[in-house]
Amino acid sequence: MAGAQTSSSNTRPQSGRVTVFGGSGFLGRRIVKHLLDHGLVVRSASRHPARAGRKQAHHELFSAVNADILDRNQVVAAVSDAGTVVNAVSLYSEHGSVTFERVHVEAASQLAEAARRAGAERYIQISGIGSDSRSQSSYIKARGQGEEAVDVGFPGATIVRPAVMTGPDDAFLTTITRLLRTLPAYPLFGNGDTRLQPASVEDVAEAVARIASAGADAHARLFEFGGPRVYTYRDLVLEVARLLGIRTRLVPVPFVFWHMLATFGEFVPGVPLTRNQVELMQIDNVADTRLPGFRDLGIEPHDIDEVLRSA
Ligand SMILES: NC(=O)c1ccc[n+]([C@@H]2O[C@H](COP(=O)([O-])OP(=O)(O)OC[C@H]3O[C@@H](n4cnc5c(N)ncnc54)[C@H](OP(=O)(O)O)[C@@H]3O)[C@@H](O)[C@H]2O)c1
Repeated sequence: MAGAQTSSSNTRPQSGRVTVFGGSGFLGRRIVKHLLDHGLVVRSASRHPARAGRKQAHHELFSAVNADILDRNQVVAAVSDAGTVVNAVSLYSEHGSVTFERVHVEAASQLAEAARRAGAERYIQISGIGSDSRSQSSYIKARGQGEEAVDVGFPGATIVRPAVMTGPDDAFLTTITRLLRTLPAYPLFGNGDTRLQPASVEDVAEAVARIASAGADAHARLFEFGGPRVYTYRDLVLEVARLLGIRTRLVPVPFVFWHMLATFGEFVPGVPLTRNQVELMQIDNVADTRLPGFRDLGIEPHDIDEVLRSA
């Protein structure tokens, strides 16, 4: 991979340099691309740097390093010369000692502190709408505590909370589409009343790039990004079915069943459902209109029909 490296050579932080932890992920890859489009020098940090994207592999402003967010030395090396650090690392199900608290609270805090110590101007934490440090859900609670911890590690950190994100390779619309195409009846989460505001992953990535390219004090510290329309889950499934030209019958399925399936699924490969997804589906996932969002950054968000058309 052109530009790939294993450690940083220049240790002076530079404002045009961005390290993206999780730069090979669903959102991280897009953040890297949009940062490059803004003319910034980008280093993707993850455990499998080769996955950071074939498209940017030969971009002269791009490099990818092998760095585990749980490894302090690798974290320090990965952020050493960055003016901005973005944390787009995910953990959707716990395994062994790799817990939500370890990744979303402790490691995020360690990354934020390493960025501050290295002299970075800006730290951007990708979190999620609904994050709440008082939640009963260990996932939602860890996301909320993570937001608080990074603000201690890097005072003035920017928190970005996207709604559920859509894109050609997402885990959300593609699952709905696959189920609509294969099942005679569609099983809803509960009665399907949960409200969702799907955001295009490209729009969220562009928003992060705009935050990263502006002056350190140019923007708010907390953003929520939701798409142009709020749907109930039931209406969203019906809308996807309509756009795909599929007739379906909706079947309400109690949440207690989904919890059992997700608990089982975390031990059985092939069940694409985690407990945190079920927990998130029990609360509305809608951007707070009092908080800054896409339009404050000059972005007109795209709706799901455009994502489905491009898939
Ligand atoms: N997807 C959504 O709809 C959605 C909605 C709201 C919020 N979010 C948030 O957005 C962020 C990104 O989510 P995503 O869906 O893009 O996740 P993803 O596709 O699973 O990507 C996660 C990234 O994190 C890296 N990673 C995981 N563990 C790591 C570790 N220990 N050290 C270093 N890198 C590690 C992965 O690369 P390696 O495996 O190679 O290390 C990958 O690059 C997360 O905070 C997520 O909660 C996502």
